[in-house]
Amino acid sequence: MSIKINFLPDNVTVDGEVGEPLLDVAERAGVSIPTGCLMGTCHACTVELEDGEVIRACITVVPPGKDQLTIHLFSDPTW
Ligand code: FES
Repeated sequence: MSIKINFLPDNVTVDGEVGEPLLDVAERAGVSIPTGCLMGTCHACTVELEDGEVIRACITVVPPGKDQLTIHLFSDPTW
């Protein structure tokens, strides 16, 4: 099952499969999420969902039960 995933502020939308790592989806969208440890500990990859939930992209997969997902990339360059 695939859902629409919209990345802001670039406003790029791609299809993502449920269970697919967010970093893979972002790469396909041509959006770069900064990464460091890839293990969920450094918070370099922090992004925010449309409901304000802050997640770490490297340990997050496309969740089931939604038909679209909006991901806000933090624009602060120090992240
Ligand atoms: S890359 Fe370090 S928490 Fe995701």
